Amino acid sequence: MQYHFENKVAMVTGAGSGIGQAASILLAKYGCKLCLIDINQNHLAETVRLIGSHVDILLQVGDVSNVEFMQSCIKQIDQHFSGLDFAFNNAGIASPVKSIADLSIETWHKQIDVNLNSIFYCLHFQIPLMLKNGGGSIVNTSSILGTVATQNRAAYITAKHGVTGLSKAAALDYAQQNIRVNSIHPGYVETPLIRQVHTEEIQIKHPIQRLGTVDEVANLVIFLLSDQASFITGANYAIDGGYTTQ
Ligand SMILES: NC(=O)c1ccc[n+]([C@@H]2O[C@H](COP(=O)([O-])OP(=O)(O)OC[C@H]3O[C@@H](n4cnc5c(N)ncnc54)[C@H](O)[C@@H]3O)[C@@H](O)[C@H]2O)c1
Repeated sequence: MQYHFENKVAMVTGAGSGIGQAASILLAKYGCKLCLIDINQNHLAETVRLIGSHVDILLQVGDVSNVEFMQSCIKQIDQHFSGLDFAFNNAGIASPVKSIADLSIETWHKQIDVNLNSIFYCLHFQIPLMLKNGGGSIVNTSSILGTVATQNRAAYITAKHGVTGLSKAAALDYAQQNIRVNSIHPGYVETPLIRQVHTEEIQIKHPIQRLGTVDEVANLVIFLLSDQASFITGANYAIDGGYTTQ
């Protein structure tokens, strides 16, 4: 599918690697101006290298779970681009494999901060800027573990279920103000985030019998952000090779 995003402004978190990087490259390919956010400067530099120098890109290096940083990112976007059309709120971290009694309080808070609270901060600051120019479209990254559970991942599962609910709530709050909000729910995708997982064991849990690719996920993100998805809001899109259908 071809998209025409010329003069659109998109913000992507976790833009330096994996799914966020693939989505950033596609958004640039279809003409978007970009604000790319990541905690890792080297990751961001690699994304910029892959996109090339022909695109108007604002880079912000910092932690999405830091409220002041997120507020400042939106201010910078307003100053640099005077508006925001698309947001892909995607940065996240993998969870340690531990049962609840063994999961430290510190790890619990970190998981909730990075994987859930950051999405609230994004929405809270993005929405007023989108409303200034008449609306926009937002995609939040949840997970298959935002709709089903598995053993020994309580904090990640809780955070990602939170993202699912928050996305629905935001969709309803702004449905009449031309802001659409959807969440995506990837199964296991080949990215650095899951390198520590035993991929063969994981692969067979997907009926399609393989892991997903970042480009497959990025294509769904672009579709949901675009006007092609103009009647879709509050939806939770599984992209998981059939994992959650079983
Ligand atoms: N890979 C999978 O199998 C899979 C499956 C389901 C959901 N997800 C979700 O997809 C999203 C992207 O994952 P990925 O696999 O592309 O991961 P990844 O590790 O390849 O990329 C994540 C990026 O986010 C950045 N990041 C991490 N913490 C950050 C923070 N606090 N502030 C700013 N940036 C931060 C990292 O530096 C990295 O560049 C995550 O939310 C993850 O939970 C991934």
